[in-house]
Amino acid sequence: MDMFRIQGGRPLNGLVRLDGSKNASLPAMAAGLAIPGGLILRNVPALLDVETMSQLLTSMHVEVQQPRGGEVHIVAGRHTNGVATYELVRQMRASVCVLGPLLGRFGRATVSLPGGCNIGHRPIDLHLQGLAALGADIRLSGGYVTARARRLRGAEIDLGGPFGPTVTGTCNLMMAAVLAHGNTRIRNAAREPEIVDLAALLTKAGGRISGAGTSVIEIEGVESLSDSAVDHTVIPDRIEAGTFVIAGLITTGQLLIPDAPLESLTAFLELLQHMGADISCEAGILRVRGGKRLRSASFTAQPFPGIPTDLQAQLMALLALSEGVSEITDAVFPDRFMHAAELVRLGADIRVFGNTARVQGVRELHGAPVMACDLRASAALVLAALAANGETEIRRVYHLDRGYQGFDVKLSRLGAIVERIQDTPEPSRPLIPPPHFDVDRKSPQPPVAANSEKPANSTESTL
Ligand code: UD1
Repeated sequence: MDMFRIQGGRPLNGLVRLDGSKNASLPAMAAGLAIPGGLILRNVPALLDVETMSQLLTSMHVEVQQPRGGEVHIVAGRHTNGVATYELVRQMRASVCVLGPLLGRFGRATVSLPGGCNIGHRPIDLHLQGLAALGADIRLSGGYVTARARRLRGAEIDLGGPFGPTVTGTCNLMMAAVLAHGNTRIRNAAREPEIVDLAALLTKAGGRISGAGTSVIEIEGVESLSDSAVDHTVIPDRIEAGTFVIAGLITTGQLLIPDAPLESLTAFLELLQHMGADISCEAGILRVRGGKRLRSASFTAQPFPGIPTDLQAQLMALLALSEGVSEITDAVFPDRFMHAAELVRLGADIRVFGNTARVQGVRELHGAPVMACDLRASAALVLAALAANGETEIRRVYHLDRGYQGFDVKLSRLGAIVERIQDTPEPSRPLIPPPHFDVDRKSPQPPVAANSEKPANSTESTL
């Protein structure tokens, strides 16, 4: 397992090129199952999750080729075996996106239930209810979902749930309904840009979809999708863009980010501007100028068009160094605060009360050994480490490799000192205080998080 060793305190400067969106690429690859003529995807990032999706498709006897960087060719022939095994699904929840296209085109799918996750309880009940509304016979047995339908029928589907609309659920149902007999209306659909991108792909393949990007999506089912290859370029990754914006600010550097999907980041950028960040856009290039200490700000992560839950952890790292008190809640994954305790190890003053994290800004962070627990939490730790004085070691960075292409390489090009090293077996945390901290002394007190007694969860996160 790799880890990062980061020497913090250096401003990042220069130009960052974004890769294609992970969250758009994964359902797009699954959509290849529904297109008889095959699919050519461009701008697909080289990520562990993309590799896992390739393996999953290959395990179903789908032909997957990656002839050159960023390109993935997918041909799902008649012999596609619609079985997604636990071994692969447990590594990546987005594997569940194969359910819809398999059912729509082949009338059968057997897909493992994804299981536990570090960022909270993540059921797929809405996916299954939607497929059942389309006429699928759904059975759960031995940890697997088996879904069958001779031909799906258009239906009214409501994806309203207590935590907001489901993104991959909306993808799954669009990919199923596009091949159903008759019309489907999905109410309370997710509105994320990745949904719009998938709808654009399916439309190129002959699907009839309107309303993607709004909360009501209408689909007129067709007999079959394109017999010739469909060519689609995946949108840039808005979460990668947001992460680099914060990298510029937290290290007091100056970054230029061409082709940043600004319209997908409005609420996030508004929050940063409210904090006093100097961010502008000229000729399609996002310019971030760090330097001054930012003000605190409270926010709730929400479904699109709100501030994305996938940027909540990175924002927490930035707020940890801002002036004043901030409160953070996450309406999408209310328990997604495992990074708070690790940020505290770097000197942040964060307490978690129920579903709210209270961040008292500090002037400095200090390097320490920390543990990455999920993809975006890992990014938050890297950002904090870049700003911290001294050396930070971040273990389990494979989480980062799932969602950021060459993050360490990109950061190094901007002036960061980041070393990727082969981790030795994880040492248990020291039971005695390190030598520079005297327990008998009253001051300085180490910052303590309300949830810091929580043991590091070893469950894999598959966000
Ligand atoms: C997707 C993203 C992930 C992002 C998340 C929320 C991909 C590959 N992943 O995950 O990066 O953090 O959206 O923006 O696109 N829920 C239910 N029942 C369901 C499905 C979901 O109650 O059947 C709940 C979840 O527990 C969660 C909320 O709905 O609280 C949103 O989850 P969802 O949008 O489904 O997340 P994913 O699609 O898995």
